[in-house]
Amino acid sequence: MIYLNGEFMPIEKAVIPVLDRGFIFGDGVYEVIPVYARRPFRLGGHLARLQASLDSIRLKNPHHDSQWQKLIERLIELNESDDQSLYLQVTRGVAKRDHAFPETVTPTVFIMSNPLMPATADQIENGVGAITAPDNRWLRCDVKSTALLPNVLLRQLAADAGCAETLLLRDGMLTEGSASNAFVVSEGVVLAPPKSNLMLPGITYDVVLELAQANDVPLEVRNVSESELRGGEEIWITSSSKEVLPVTTLDGKAVGKGRPGPAFRRMHGLFQDHKAQLRRTANG
Ligand code: PDD
Repeated sequence: MIYLNGEFMPIEKAVIPVLDRGFIFGDGVYEVIPVYARRPFRLGGHLARLQASLDSIRLKNPHHDSQWQKLIERLIELNESDDQSLYLQVTRGVAKRDHAFPETVTPTVFIMSNPLMPATADQIENGVGAITAPDNRWLRCDVKSTALLPNVLLRQLAADAGCAETLLLRDGMLTEGSASNAFVVSEGVVLAPPKSNLMLPGITYDVVLELAQANDVPLEVRNVSESELRGGEEIWITSSSKEVLPVTTLDGKAVGKGRPGPAFRRMHGLFQDHKAQLRRTANG
């Protein structure tokens, strides 16, 4: 079941007009929200980032947070899995094709749910491969825009190479992955590129920073150079769908010892404990 413009319906019934500006221009923004045990994870953070994305593209938020929350809770109820991945998209709506904004138009609001596909045991045990590529995206990578063609092309480079992710370099610095944030462990310190217009402020990135700070994991939020990336003992990627994943090969070469490292195992454990704690609060 999905939600489209005021109605819940089976996805097969959902249609949008061809003149939707999301279809014509990619003129919209989105969120991906994980749901654990039927509870949306960090909903406040996702709704705040949605607001920031909408503000950046000068589109009025069609709903207050409490309305979003009700829609999301209802959609979770209408779908089967306990663990879900919600995809929420707002576009500037349907109008005659013209680049400039239409004067009056109702935004299109779409939310769908899929079963959450977490990282596999093999990915956590053995890590995943990544490649690098120049970050050729625009200068507003902090906006979670549905216009993802650069990200799509960059991710396909990884797929072509049999890898899971493409890590992006701009002016000699690591920005993020094509659909994830990236961390490097160097001399035992977790290095996190600072939030800026050059990367998406990830909700999972925030969780990792919080868990590191709360558990005295050595952490530095600062620019990470290409040589630090290539020389790192560990590389991690984070996203709402995959949580934290270890990268064990980069451009075909082993990262550190070529195995998920101790800092990853610690962070993975902290993340699982954090989720278990939320499940316990949910149940009682
Ligand atoms: N992508 N950077 C980019 C470019 C992303 O697309 C994503 C997430 C992230 C991680 O953000 P978060 O931790 O809030 O998921 C960073 C989602 C999952 C997607 O497009 O499917």
